Amino acid sequence: MIPPKPPSRPEKVSLLKYVRLFRQDILSAQPAKLYRAWMAQFKTPFFRSYMINQPSLVKTVLNQRPRDFPKSDRIGAGLRPLLGNSVFLTNGETWERQRRIIDPAFEGGRLRDTFPAMWQAGEAATARLEDGVKEVEEITSFAAADVIFRTLFSIPIEDRIAQAVFSEFRAYQRTQPILNLAAFVKGPKWMPRLFRPQTKQTAKSIRGLITQLTEARMAQITAGTAPDDLATKIMTTVDPETGETFTTEEMVDQVAIFFLAGHETSASALAWTLYLLAMFPDWQDKLAEEAKALDAGCDFKVMSKLRLSRDVFREGLRLYPPVPMMVRESKCPETFRDREIKPGAQVVISPWHLHRHERLWDNPDGFDPTRWETDNGKQCMRDAFIPFSSGPRVCTGAGFAMVEGPLLLSMLVRNFRFETTEHRPVPVAHLTVRSKDGIWLKVSKRTDHD
Ligand code: HEM
Repeated sequence: MIPPKPPSRPEKVSLLKYVRLFRQDILSAQPAKLYRAWMAQFKTPFFRSYMINQPSLVKTVLNQRPRDFPKSDRIGAGLRPLLGNSVFLTNGETWERQRRIIDPAFEGGRLRDTFPAMWQAGEAATARLEDGVKEVEEITSFAAADVIFRTLFSIPIEDRIAQAVFSEFRAYQRTQPILNLAAFVKGPKWMPRLFRPQTKQTAKSIRGLITQLTEARMAQITAGTAPDDLATKIMTTVDPETGETFTTEEMVDQVAIFFLAGHETSASALAWTLYLLAMFPDWQDKLAEEAKALDAGCDFKVMSKLRLSRDVFREGLRLYPPVPMMVRESKCPETFRDREIKPGAQVVISPWHLHRHERLWDNPDGFDPTRWETDNGKQCMRDAFIPFSSGPRVCTGAGFAMVEGPLLLSMLVRNFRFETTEHRPVPVAHLTVRSKDGIWLKVSKRTDHD
């Protein structure tokens, strides 16, 4: 049984057809040969883009010479109204300074401190869930948003402002349902930005709400009454080089990205992993058995017992990397695999293709959580597994997500059984990898005899 994989397009299509397919979904717009190629070139009258799948080239761009391959400005074209000058969009010194302030909040010890808030979000998610056929992307979105609010601002999703931010984000995604084409490919200035006036309005409204939360927190910090959570930690961290902290405005930009990057991605990974567990009930039973360790109560140490859950979550991230592709721009002339790459060309790194690369992985499209113990799995983990990217620009929340994912997964399967229905999901790339028409599963409460 092979987990859902989107169809590939025919090898040769016209530029117009490609653009049309691309606008629908970037995954099915690609030819099957990208699962075998080390490098591919997209040539159009306006731009050249290069996808690189060769592990050594990916390392050059992400790990060894990231300054020569900054994030493309075009990514900002679609996201800037919402994210302003957030760490996700900046480059150079601004970005370095922002990471110096943000990174300490996500270090190992702090993760331990945020664990009780994650645990409470997991308990709330299981308490909300009821028997029946459910769309699980919705359930995991709500749960992941709850995790972010609780860990960042010590408020549950039921809080009035949290609720409003969550529903405005949904509206935002609906106004910008697909990856911005202009962000992905380098086009001339006149190329239409596929992005609608309503998107700007929703972004403004989200930022207004986040500003309220951030200003209130600043006041609590000044009064010495602020809770010890991620927001307080970030807002009180002094940059060791400049001696400055974030202003309220800068913090609003960062909160917007934490919310977006932190809940969309985790929700996608959790929903797909639940689908995989429904497809492979033996694994689900193994995880439910392992999850009995949670009965001892909220203690960070339990994470070391949830190993199968971690391996399954990892396999979910491999097959359905929430961020399917990343775009960088080359600053200098390069030669990659005898091809000349001019400054300004787009370099695309595709976790989606790298994670299923037929020349790298054993059983690339199959579900096999035991692979991480094999020589091939270990090798690929080092060379071809980048769900959180890699190098200095690696996801700030990677450690956070690797606690959140296995924990919530274990809590859910400890209490519920998930079964497939006749609806087979089709992966498509929206802001993250989602299913075309949702992921529908039959949910039923587990009894102690299960
Ligand atoms: C399964 C969950 C997650 C996945 C798969 C994921 C994946 C990624 C990836 C691939 C990037 C790099 C994007 C690029 O370079 O174009 C990234 C960046 C980022 N992520 Fe995550 N992420 C996850 C969860 C989180 C969480 C929970 C947070 C915060 C609470 C977070 C915050 C960020 C931030 C701030 C960046 C920008 C880092 C920078 O550019 O320096 N992510 N994430």
